[in-house]
Amino acid sequence: MTKEFKSADSTDRLSMLLGFQRVSDNTLDKTKVIEKGKGIYVYDSDGKEYIEATASFYVASLGYQNEELIDAIEEQYRKLPFFVSAMHRAPAKSIELADKLQELVPNKDAHIMFASTGSEANDFLMKMMRFDAVAKGTPDRKTIIGRHSSYHGGTIATASLTGAHHEEFGLPIEGFRHVSQPDYHGSRLPGETEIEYCDRLVSEFEILIEAEPEGTIAAFFAEPLSFSAGFKIPPRGYFEKIQKLLLSHEIQFVCDEVITGFGRTGSVLGSDAMDLEPDHVVMGKALTSGYFPLSAVSLGSSLYEGLEMGSEQYGVLAHAGTFSAHPVGAAAALKTLEIIERDKLVDHAKKMGCRLKEGLMPLTEHPLIGDVRTFGLGVGLDFLLRDENDLVLNNDSDERSVEMYEKLLAIGMIARPAGRSLVIAPPLIVKPEEIDDIVSRVSTVLDSMA
Ligand SMILES: Cc1ncc(COP(=O)(O)O)c(C=O)c1O
Repeated sequence: MTKEFKSADSTDRLSMLLGFQRVSDNTLDKTKVIEKGKGIYVYDSDGKEYIEATASFYVASLGYQNEELIDAIEEQYRKLPFFVSAMHRAPAKSIELADKLQELVPNKDAHIMFASTGSEANDFLMKMMRFDAVAKGTPDRKTIIGRHSSYHGGTIATASLTGAHHEEFGLPIEGFRHVSQPDYHGSRLPGETEIEYCDRLVSEFEILIEAEPEGTIAAFFAEPLSFSAGFKIPPRGYFEKIQKLLLSHEIQFVCDEVITGFGRTGSVLGSDAMDLEPDHVVMGKALTSGYFPLSAVSLGSSLYEGLEMGSEQYGVLAHAGTFSAHPVGAAAALKTLEIIERDKLVDHAKKMGCRLKEGLMPLTEHPLIGDVRTFGLGVGLDFLLRDENDLVLNNDSDERSVEMYEKLLAIGMIARPAGRSLVIAPPLIVKPEEIDDIVSRVSTVLDSMA
C-alpha cells in the first residue's frame, strides 16, 4: 500500500535523512513529497504542480515520463536485468555504450570506465591515477588540485576535492589543494579588467604549483563552467592559460562534466563548448536522464597505458564496482543519447537557452540583480551588487538567492540557490512557451522582492 503523505503539519522526523538542509528540518511539514512527474513538471502529494526548472539537480534532461526511454529500460530488464562487468565478462549493452561514449568524448583513444554516481566516477579516476603513478615509478605524484566552492561529490576523496564544507567534516584528507574559482563578478578588484583578473588567477595557480614538491601534483579537476559553484563562467583565456601551465608541469587535466555533459551547454559536452582538451572526462547525471544511476569516466590513453603496465606488474587491476556498467543503465544511456541525437536536442537546448537569455537579460537592470550569466540552457542570476566605484555593495546576496528560491517554490517553480546566485536550467525538452512561463514567474517574483 502506498503511504499517504497528506499531513503537512507533521513535525515528526522523517525516517530518511535529507542532505543540504538543517538536520532538524528533516520533518514532513518542511518536505515537499514529490509523487510524479510529466515533461518538465513534477507534482507533490497535495497535487501541486511545479516546473522543475533545474531538471532536478541538472539530471532529468528528457523530462519525466519519456515513454520511449521507459520502454528501452523495460526491454533491457526483460532481457538481462543485471550482469557484472569484471573477470572477462561484461554485458553487451555496456560495451555498446562504451563504444558510443568513446566516439563522443574529446580525448580520442580514450577507454571508458563506468561507475554508478558522479562521486564514484571522480573517486575511481583519482584511484586510477594513483595506480598509474605507481606503475610508472612516480608514486608520489598523487596531489590533486580542485577549486574553491566547486562540488565534486560526497565520498571522502571527492568531498576533499570539493572546494567547500571541509571544516565540518574534518576534511580535506591529505593530498588535496585548492585554487580560486573564476568569479569575475564577485572576486575582481575594483576596476580590474577581465584579462587582469584572469592573469591573477593563473599566477595564483603557478605559485601553488611552485610551492609543492617537484613532481607530486597528479591532476587538476574543473567543471568547464561551474554550475556547482553558482553558475561561474570562466573569464576569456582562463582555460587556455591554465591548460598551458598544466602541460608544462605534466599535470593531468580533468573535466568534471557531471553537470555540463550531454547538451546542457548547447554542445554535447561542455569541453566542446569551451574548446578544452582534457586528458580525462567525468560524466554522470544526464547520461541516463536520471532514469538509472550510471556514470562514466573517459580515461586518456597515457593513463590507460599505465593501467596495462601496472596490471602486468601486479597481476590484475584489483578494481571493480558491482553495479558499475549496469546493463539497464547502459540501455537507458544509449536510448537517452539516441533521442538527444535524433531529436536534435542539443540544438534545441541552444535555442531555448537563447530564448531564456532574451527573457532574463533585461534583469541586469533590476535593482536586486548584480549580474545575469547565461550559457547554453542555463542562467545564473547573481544577487551581489556593485556600486559606481565597482565596490561590493551588499552582504545579503546569499539570503536574497534563498528568498527568491522559496518564493518561486511557493508559486510552483523549482530553481537552485547556489551561494549568492539562483540557477535556472530546465530539462532539454523544454518548450518555448514553458521558457516564457519561467521568465514571467522569475520577473514577477523579483518585482515582489524589490
Ligand atoms: C560537478 C559535479 N561533480 C560530481 C557530482 C557528484 O555526483 P553524484 O551526486 O551523482 O555523486 C556532482 C553532484 O552534484 C556535481 O555537481
